[in-house]
Amino acid sequence: MTERESGGARVEMPLAELPAWQAFAEAAGQADRRGGTLRVLQAAGLSLDLSTQAQSPALRAAGLALLVARDFDDWRSRLLQGSAVNGTEQRAAWHTALRAEEPPGMAAAKVRDEQDRLRAFVRHLDAEGRFDSVVHIGIGGSDWGPKLVVAALGYAGTRREMRFVANIDGHAIEAGLLGLDPHRTLVVVSSKSFTTVETMSNAQRALQWLREAGIAEPWAQVVAVTANPEAARGMGVAPERIFRFWEWAGGRYSVWSSIGLPIALALGAEALDGLRQGAAAMDEHFATAPPENNMPVQMALTGLVNRNVYGYASLNIAPYDARLMHLVPYLQQLEMESLGKSVDRAGRPVSLPTGPVVWGMPGTDGQHTFFQWLHQGPEGAPVDFIICRDADHPFPEHHRLLVANCLAQREALLKGKSAQTLQAELAAKEPDAARAAWLARHKAHPGGRPSSLIVLPRLNAHALGALLALYEHKVFVQGVLWGINPFDQWGVEYGKILATGIAAELTSGRLAEGHDASTAYWVAQWENGGV
Ligand code: F6P
Repeated sequence: MTERESGGARVEMPLAELPAWQAFAEAAGQADRRGGTLRVLQAAGLSLDLSTQAQSPALRAAGLALLVARDFDDWRSRLLQGSAVNGTEQRAAWHTALRAEEPPGMAAAKVRDEQDRLRAFVRHLDAEGRFDSVVHIGIGGSDWGPKLVVAALGYAGTRREMRFVANIDGHAIEAGLLGLDPHRTLVVVSSKSFTTVETMSNAQRALQWLREAGIAEPWAQVVAVTANPEAARGMGVAPERIFRFWEWAGGRYSVWSSIGLPIALALGAEALDGLRQGAAAMDEHFATAPPENNMPVQMALTGLVNRNVYGYASLNIAPYDARLMHLVPYLQQLEMESLGKSVDRAGRPVSLPTGPVVWGMPGTDGQHTFFQWLHQGPEGAPVDFIICRDADHPFPEHHRLLVANCLAQREALLKGKSAQTLQAELAAKEPDAARAAWLARHKAHPGGRPSSLIVLPRLNAHALGALLALYEHKVFVQGVLWGINPFDQWGVEYGKILATGIAAELTSGRLAEGHDASTAYWVAQWENGGV
């Protein structure tokens, strides 16, 4: 194991064996979990309220010591300077360079050139007025970011009709093309690798749709966004319609790159610029704020307390904003692809559980879906509540009720309500004391359930950029603390390889050796059914 292979750092002690971890866990075990002290951090226009998370001066001090023991300062510098922090793929994870006002180092010229090309392209399309709809084809990190931002900021309308197609399921591309005029539709194919089977198959289908409409040069309506421009050229996309990004920008960290093209097409290039500026403001805070006031750092430490000391296996995300309907899947990819790891950077089994399951949906829908489980299920989960101080609609009463619901759910999770209190309340109406006691036990809330509250001033490009960068940096810090590489995703490769083999078997009708009994049975079923 060389330093380079472990991501350029010296091989670290497993987290559980580190005295600084043991001190941190002990302090967390004794911390206040009942919201005794107000604790609000500010950064890039966002507020983060951690009052309803475990806290104490001892825990805060132990957190700082843990960061030192994990060489956090060094890791942060290496991330921000574009060093090869992704050890298994031997590359940088330099998404911050994509949004810096002055892109740093060797990345500067090419980042700026590509941003200028993209702006000019969007201006040209706007002036030409030829396309009034866009079908965007991409998946995972080449889909969630633009889809999230366009839904969030374009809720009241976009410059063009925007369709996002990701899934290999033919219903997705069928619905994506339905009702559009092929002569007035631009097809954007986004894929870092330009080999992803879903994206390539959907792109071929879209091309066929253009051809079927009698369009002689369908490629003239296709734009590619990729880190593999040779593949895009090889397929037929003209160089002037290929927008680049680079290997050092991970898929789930790529919305800041040319992958943001649909954002500019839907909302104007200013929206993409604003998004980048908000993220850059959070980068600046992350790079310079002292760790005790550093929002991503404190969020990361809080996550470790919940995951590894209190044993919460999941994290619920509750954006109290209907426009953020794609935030949960976006963060699921960011968090779970990054932190779903079982070996540390040195390749040893991790000594403590790593990233939690991330789940959720916008409030107040979630309240009528799964909040019962959060309040009274035996395990519960920490919740990240996210809300805007100001809404953009003209219905103040709705916003007042939305805010009230968000604050009330947090308070209920924190304070709980004991069976004794409830029994006393019920006694006034219920003459049967045994029944009152029985009912009180059903109604009781345990309380002491942790949550965070993130408040955005309002949902604009700047605030959304800052929010996404906050989570990116939180995930990075947690990777450092757990000693894992948050920038690779080997786990998703194996299934892709098996799928390729099974697809070939379905085509040839010949069942291969080596399947388990169930897979062999079902492959044969589809072969016989003539897929
Ligand atoms: O899900 C695996 C993955 O490699 C993601 O990390 C990535 O965002 C997605 O597939 C799409 O990859 P590409 O942009 O290369 O098509």
